[in-house]
Amino acid sequence: MALTLFTLALALPAVLALENGLARTPQMGWNTWNHFGCGISEDTILSAAKALVSNNLTSYGYEYVIVDDCWQAPARDPSTGAPVADPSKFPNGIKDVADQVHNMGLKFGIYSSAGTYTCGGRFGSLDHEEIDAKTYASWGVDYLKYDNCYNEGRAGTPKISYDRYANMTRALNATGRPILYSMCNWGEDGPWNFAVDIANSWRISGDIHDDFDRYDDRCPCTSILDCKLPGFHCAMSRIIDFAAPVGQKAGPGHWNDLDMLEVGNGGMNFDEYVTHFSMWALVKSPLILGNDITNMSNDTLTIITNDALIAVNQDPNGSPASRIWKRTLPEGGDLQLWQGSLVNNQFVFALMNTSPNPQTVNVSFTDVFVDQGASYQSGTFTLYDLWQKDPSSGAWGLNLGDFTGSVPNVQIGTHQTKVWKAIPVSTSQKRDRAEL
Ligand code: GLA
Repeated sequence: MALTLFTLALALPAVLALENGLARTPQMGWNTWNHFGCGISEDTILSAAKALVSNNLTSYGYEYVIVDDCWQAPARDPSTGAPVADPSKFPNGIKDVADQVHNMGLKFGIYSSAGTYTCGGRFGSLDHEEIDAKTYASWGVDYLKYDNCYNEGRAGTPKISYDRYANMTRALNATGRPILYSMCNWGEDGPWNFAVDIANSWRISGDIHDDFDRYDDRCPCTSILDCKLPGFHCAMSRIIDFAAPVGQKAGPGHWNDLDMLEVGNGGMNFDEYVTHFSMWALVKSPLILGNDITNMSNDTLTIITNDALIAVNQDPNGSPASRIWKRTLPEGGDLQLWQGSLVNNQFVFALMNTSPNPQTVNVSFTDVFVDQGASYQSGTFTLYDLWQKDPSSGAWGLNLGDFTGSVPNVQIGTHQTKVWKAIPVSTSQKRDRAEL
């Protein structure tokens, strides 16, 4: 009997599903990379953690403080093989930093690569998954960003990539500590298809560049679905294009990651950063700040604390917005309409103008409610502009009144995005068919 059970156990597939219960809504926090690159130390992390608290960003949901590349010593511990931190940057070790971050009521994240080296040339975790996961857990790590550099060619089919990344899923699960697993393989081999039950999020593209729309050959793909070279220097609005077809694959516990935010890093203007933050929120990307939060302008703080947009991102439905249409304009760029469902039969929709000119648009409810059907398309909705504040309460979301059929005559400036929340006035609207 014992032998039979043993044989049966061997025959069952290893349980790989990510059972960590984390990221039921997209993760929020701050990461070192976009602003500081390799120029980090214990002080960078602790100052940022203090700034999260002192700027009250924790009350908006920002909770993870994540150390990206270049925290590692030149080599692993020669006797145990365990990872070691660079003693000049982290003289008290990583556990001490993690403890201090925890004492501020925050969570702590770290970075490695599913390769021989990280992208910054430090030791990677390929074939060291177990000892690395164990060590991270012993340090009190709550989050792992796991990159793709120097992967020894172990990519090229979804199965090969899956196996390489699932080794870390297994190792993290085995520690018994809940560690959010943020895969960063730049969309290679289509992680939206294969990573849904091994990771909490996956990067969909090459690295973001702090720029609205500049084309750069180092981000050569026009779509990510068959992208052979994700590259880097991907302008922000190109990543929005990349995200459009894969929203359908994300949901609670498993998200498309459009990369860390650039809001506040200086490469875009206010309207462009509003577009950036709005679209990351609507498609349910993790919201990981990437600026120097110890030194922020009021504009930056205004954008990253728009709690109406954050509520869209964190909506319990976890349903990413879809692009309803994209209209290319003769002067260059386009207009795009996006729509998503929220809890309690509420909706969010957004109009984005990537063209160089201001535009005037009638936003038709036939388009906005294309998925909900006729009774919604002809229904009446109270609309709230999520980038205007209610003058009496000061809260984001100005009540614009009730609308039937369309939002007429919308004036939208160059590179702007307008976001509306729609609440049905009558609850009689019946959906034509179940939404996906
Ligand atoms: C890759 C990742 C980035 C960052 C760097 C660090 O490029 O995609 O987000 O982690 O590596 O070297």
